[in-house]
Amino acid sequence: MLLLVLFSIISFLAIFVNAKTFTSAADLVHHNYDFIIVGGGTAGCVLANRLSETPSVKILMIEAGVSADGNLNTEVPFLGVTLPGSTLDWNFTSTSQVGLNGRTVPYPRGQTLGGTSVINLLTWNRGSNDLWNKWASITNDEGWSWNNIQKYYLRTSRLVKPADGHDITGEVIPALHGNGPVQVSVPGFPTDLDDRVVNSSKLLGGRFPYNEDFNSGNNVGVGFMQSTVGNGARSHSANAYLEPVLTRPNLDLLIDTHVTKLIQTSAKGETPIKFGTVEVAASATAQLVHINAKKEVILSAGAFGTPQILLLSGIGPRAHLENKGISTAIDLPVGQNLTDQPLLASYYLINSNQTFNHILSDPSAFNTTLQEWITSKQGLFVDSPGNTQGFVRLPANSSILKQFPDPASGPLSPHTEFIFVDGFAQFGPVTMPTTGNFMTVLTVVVSPLSRGNISLATSNPFDKPLINPGLLTHKFDILAMVQAIKDVQTFIQAGPWANFVQAPFGDLATAKTDDLKAAFARNFTGAGSHPSGSAPMSSSESNRGVVDSKLLVKGASGLRVVDASVFPLIPECHIQAPVYIIAERAADLIKLAHGFPTDLSPV
Ligand SMILES: Cc1cc2nc3c(=O)[nH]c(=O)nc-3n(C[C@H](O)[C@H](O)[C@H](O)COP(=O)(O)OP(=O)(O)OC[C@H]3O[C@@H](n4cnc5c(N)ncnc54)[C@H](O)[C@@H]3O)c2cc1C
Ligand SMILES: *[C@@H]1O[C@H](CO)[C@@H](O)[C@H](O)[C@H]1NC(C)=O
Ligand SMILES: *[C@@H]1O[C@H](CO)[C@@H](O)[C@H](O)[C@H]1NC(C)=O
Ligand SMILES: *[C@@H]1O[C@H](CO)[C@@H](O)[C@H](O)[C@H]1NC(C)=O
Ligand SMILES: *[C@@H]1O[C@H](CO)[C@@H](O)[C@H](O)[C@H]1NC(C)=O
Ligand SMILES: *[C@@H]1O[C@H](CO)[C@@H](O)[C@H](O)[C@H]1NC(C)=O
Ligand SMILES: *[C@@H]1O[C@H](CO)[C@@H](O)[C@H](O)[C@H]1NC(C)=O
Ligand SMILES: *[C@@H]1O[C@H](CO)[C@@H](O)[C@H](O)[C@H]1NC(C)=O
Ligand SMILES: *[C@@H]1O[C@H](CO)[C@@H](O)[C@H](O)[C@H]1NC(C)=O
Repeated sequence: MLLLVLFSIISFLAIFVNAKTFTSAADLVHHNYDFIIVGGGTAGCVLANRLSETPSVKILMIEAGVSADGNLNTEVPFLGVTLPGSTLDWNFTSTSQVGLNGRTVPYPRGQTLGGTSVINLLTWNRGSNDLWNKWASITNDEGWSWNNIQKYYLRTSRLVKPADGHDITGEVIPALHGNGPVQVSVPGFPTDLDDRVVNSSKLLGGRFPYNEDFNSGNNVGVGFMQSTVGNGARSHSANAYLEPVLTRPNLDLLIDTHVTKLIQTSAKGETPIKFGTVEVAASATAQLVHINAKKEVILSAGAFGTPQILLLSGIGPRAHLENKGISTAIDLPVGQNLTDQPLLASYYLINSNQTFNHILSDPSAFNTTLQEWITSKQGLFVDSPGNTQGFVRLPANSSILKQFPDPASGPLSPHTEFIFVDGFAQFGPVTMPTTGNFMTVLTVVVSPLSRGNISLATSNPFDKPLINPGLLTHKFDILAMVQAIKDVQTFIQAGPWANFVQAPFGDLATAKTDDLKAAFARNFTGAGSHPSGSAPMSSSESNRGVVDSKLLVKGASGLRVVDASVFPLIPECHIQAPVYIIAERAADLIKLAHGFPTDLSPV
């Protein structure tokens, strides 16, 4: 009897705790909410947290995936590399890329609560002050300037101790960091490369100055990587922002469910057009269900999902929509100017038998390392591969800058990046040879001028869109990539690399001239996994963008976009921190627009 009572109390509690997460639209109790957040990813979870701070509003967040809790590979930083191509990945592929000799490249995106922050490589860069000030000037909205954005940055994240608890003096500047939920730390397991990279920078100076903290506003130089790791485990949007507020009674989640389109709810001919209904389905053959948002629909489905939903809803370039048999509600350049950073992996033979490949290729060493992580959160697996970063500007007298306007947002922003990885990390078509020890050097053009587009393959919401990042189609990008390869080769001539680097490996070894390096780059470059700008912000007067500087879709009412789609210019760094930042500002803009209390007096 007592057991039975206990059991029913426990199951009652379980139902109570879980009641707000629906796995099927058929189970929804309500079909009317104040706000519907489409996409429970990086930005979506921030909004779910901040908007539900106002107890009087009812919020529904809809996510195509399910929770990743319990998936060890999402917790162990080093094993994040196994997540692309897993059940948590949408598994997109680019169209044939003319800049890459017609190759297609994989395009991972997170399909889970927390979105791509759950499967990414964890690097944390907030962007230079110049970047934010440039956004303010493009959008004609001082609210995006660094001075006004800083308070939102400070509430995204906080610096925590590295896993090994080492003294971080000189590796990061704690005073620059805030007090938000995402945990950020410097590497917690040193590799053979870290000292060499840092010492070379201090020795060479010039175009490779040591940078004590990339999140100081100056994003140029060489230094320690900061990553979304706390206590040796991944911190992401779902475990940082969403899970702590799941007990709030005004927040509901609908997971394992796709948003198929938005439906107009304003009278025909009325402007601006209201899209107050969200259509969802569990699969291509499942029943369609309609859910209403009284105040706003917020699209946070990411740089691919958001433009796809807009196009399916009749918001996009008229000619393209007509071609797909969709009638145009608002003619806007949705999907145009998709931007990403080209990323190239080069390999060097090194004089070392300490690379991570020795652990990965030995099942018993792998087991020992994993057990070390599980029991004490120490060892190789506490970091994502790559402990240092270099952000480099083209030489001031570079002939490249004479041919093209400087695409970087200002002198505090770089043109290219390099990352040193202590092992053979597969980032493209080259697989690891059976003999030899290797380091991987990633080079990235972080201020690309190439632009691509994303468009519908068909009007079926369950068909993947056509994703064309236009990688290396602009001449600036290929010239900058060649310069980045040469910069790495200059950098590893410095003393600390002596008797360590033996030779470039593979086709790079014979690519002695600039033309051959360019050919090498076209053969092996892939996508930097930072797609953005597919529904960009612009000033209210401009007809270039898709949303205004308050992130409202032009020509619509009550429809906002909050994710990497809105970037008016790609940040010259890794982009997750900027996504968290725009989501924090967006939450305040929404509260302000509806008269809810805010504590940060947004501009
Ligand atoms: C392999 C990889 C490595 C990366 N490494 C780094 C890094 O080291 N540092 C860094 O800063 N950035 C990195 N990034 C990029 C960064 O993680 C993303 O740019 C960022 O997380 C995107 O946030 P978002 O909110 O725009 O989109 P997402 O986080 O992708 O959120 C979109 C959400 O919407 C959902 N969704 C989409 N369509 C629908 C639909 N129709 N219905 C319902 N739900 C839908 C998705 O499932 C997803 O949960 C990496 C990305 C990848 C793929
Ligand atoms: C992505 O591909 C992998 C491997 O084929 C598969 O297991 C996974 O289910 C796919 N992801 C999705 C969301 O379908
Ligand atoms: C690693 O290299 C050192 C010095 O080069 C050598 O003494 C040692 O035997 C090597 N270990 C393995 C496992 O190859
Ligand atoms: C590694 O650990 C797993 C789980 O404990 C075990 O099944 C496996 O046999 C181990 N492998 C080796 C090589 O020790
Ligand atoms: C640029 O300046 C550097 C150092 O000042 C010099 O070595 C180099 O030759 C110059 N390059 C060009 C293209 O003028
Ligand atoms: C996308 O870009 C490709 C290549 O430039 C072009 O052929 C195609 O028409 C574009 N699609 C849309 C919808 O703009
Ligand atoms: C880097 O510099 C430190 C401090 O001077 C020194 O202890 C270390 O040996 C150097 N490492 C390399 C690889 O040069
Ligand atoms: C690029 O690939 C082509 C085709 O495989 C090959 O012939 C060429 O040698 C490669 N060039 C370089 C520099 O890697
Ligand atoms: C795309 O970018 C180009 C070059 O920066 C610009 O001229 C054009 O207006 C942009 N288009 C949109 C729709 O933003």
